[in-house]
Amino acid sequence: MTHQVRAVVARGKGAPVSLETIIVPDPGPGEALVKIEACGVCHTDLHYREGGINDDFPFLLGHEAAGVVESVGEGVTDVAPGDFVILNWRAVCGRCRACRRGRPWYCFDTHNAEQKMTLASTGQELSPALGIGAFAEKTLVAAGQCTKVDRAASAAAAGLLGCGVMAGIGAAINTGNVGRGDSVAVIGCGGVGDAAVVGSRLAGAAKIIAVDIDDRKLATARKLGATHTVNSRQSDPVEAIRELTGGFGADVVIEAVGRPETYRQAFYARDLAGTVVLVGVPTPEMKLELPLLDVFGRGGTLKSSWYGDCLPSRDFPMLIDLYLQGRLDLDAFVTETIGLDEVEKAFDRMHGGEVLRSVVVL
Ligand code: APR
Ligand code: ZN
Ligand code: ZN
Repeated sequence: MTHQVRAVVARGKGAPVSLETIIVPDPGPGEALVKIEACGVCHTDLHYREGGINDDFPFLLGHEAAGVVESVGEGVTDVAPGDFVILNWRAVCGRCRACRRGRPWYCFDTHNAEQKMTLASTGQELSPALGIGAFAEKTLVAAGQCTKVDRAASAAAAGLLGCGVMAGIGAAINTGNVGRGDSVAVIGCGGVGDAAVVGSRLAGAAKIIAVDIDDRKLATARKLGATHTVNSRQSDPVEAIRELTGGFGADVVIEAVGRPETYRQAFYARDLAGTVVLVGVPTPEMKLELPLLDVFGRGGTLKSSWYGDCLPSRDFPMLIDLYLQGRLDLDAFVTETIGLDEVEKAFDRMHGGEVLRSVVVL
């Protein structure tokens, strides 16, 4: 059997997205068909539409999603029809060296659904963005991309854990290993940086210094738990962070911009024994030059964070529990809820800097 549903498709490089009818097959072995309830709009969706990731058009966009499993294919035992799930980018294999050594976020044998969704009008195969494609009434994923969480959570909030918010919280609690009493500096307070602020607060950080070039972003970061803010257009953030930490630098510095100057600031703003967490993604041509004596002379740790180094089966249910207990305000990240036909408008608003997340609710 197949399912005809409405979905947001990017047909070609730079062209506005359109609402199309797509055909979704029933799940094959190891797959699950998910009825989508909510899906956040992420910068990466826009990158796909602009052709910044690859040219496998047409794309089915959307990847920060939660929904209900409608049916499962042969051999699927971890999720069942009726389960409320958050989707993740890739199902890890559980058997490779990285998985066996407890670092599944480095898994080198990840997979997505094998059966193809197609455009009803032309029969063309769709490339689901990040292997999900959830700006759709239904989508097909590998069963391992589904993590069951408590049904009491709102779908709009839950879906956000599938990408940017998990990346930020995970940068603090998993990669940075922020601990009780630590001082943390977060450079760049968009959705990811703000989530790092929230994660640092969850972990018991005593000082959370938010750095951005935009005062509106700093105001939001403060609402979410930043104890200090620094506008790096007005003062040198490295100096400011040192001053706020008794001259030492922060125990953990989280870079959530992805530019050479902010990588440099992160490098110098940490305590000599501190940790730098790089979660901002640079572009291929970006370079950073550092005096080797500074690299040698400053101890501590430099780490990049992939998808918040998360383990969905461990982290998604745990964070949803904290959310339901009122200890993690995921709703604060949902600036507006929109319909499937408003994704293009949400892309425009993204540039304005006022939206943390627009979330499509179905
Ligand atoms: N110094 C400090 N902050 C800066 C600077 C700078 N030089 N340049 C930009 N910023 C701020 C912006 O004002 C904005 O608040 O960084 C923030 C970036 O936020 P978003 O554009 O909303 O991006 P976000 O979704 O948070 O992702 C940030 O993390 O996972 C990666 O790919 C993602 O590289 C991206 C980064
Ligand atoms: Zn994303
Ligand atoms: Zn693996």
